Amino acid sequence: MRVFIVYAHPSENSFTHHVKDSFITGLEYSGHNVVVSDLYRMHFQTDMSESEYLREAMYRKDLPLPPDVQAEQKKIIESDAITFIYPVFWSDAPAKLVGWFDRVWTFGFAYGKDRIMTPLYKGLVLCVAGNTMQYFKETGLLDSMQRVMLEDRLFDRVKTKEMIIFDATSREYPDRESNWERHLQRAFDTGRNF
Ligand SMILES: Cc1cc2nc3c(=O)[nH]c(=O)nc-3n(C[C@H](O)[C@H](O)[C@H](O)COP(=O)(O)O)c2cc1C
Repeated sequence: MRVFIVYAHPSENSFTHHVKDSFITGLEYSGHNVVVSDLYRMHFQTDMSESEYLREAMYRKDLPLPPDVQAEQKKIIESDAITFIYPVFWSDAPAKLVGWFDRVWTFGFAYGKDRIMTPLYKGLVLCVAGNTMQYFKETGLLDSMQRVMLEDRLFDRVKTKEMIIFDATSREYPDRESNWERHLQRAFDTGRNF
């Protein structure tokens, strides 16, 4: 299977970076092909231009898509599955990834009658969180994070979908280090069993 990974973390010195590498190692172990968009490293533009806004808000449906958006959409069309890997920032994805959705999930491609994007076989979300899963459940934030990513952004654009949260990775937690091996093994197994 060809798996497109949209990865958003500003630093290689991060746990999220290790999760991404372990997941890719697992995918490649099982013979999958991997294509990665490393959004920070690509300096992917996340601010929508006025022209893009006018197109999306349907004032000017005739306006063309920018080349960098077309390049991302091509990667999606050529893939069987899509995976998003990122750290939780303010109970959502980093602005870098949110901006990717603003610009790449365009009218006529990701939504709208006769959209071009046919449902991918699978959509997977791997996110790294400072807080514990218990905290996310007690506050209701788990539900909101899942709903926004799975039910709104992925919605029916994928046939099956799942969100995995690698929790309690904040440097405030003394057991952060012991969680690492467990999390990285899970990331590898998720790739291997994709
Ligand atoms: C701006 C910012 C906002 C964050 N917001 C949250 C949050 O809302 N919930 C949470 O669990 N962790 C939050 N974190 C912690 C990140 O998820 C943190 O980067 C991660 O736990 C550690 O993984 P890393 O080494 O890959 O960055 C935030 C971190 C930053 C820098």
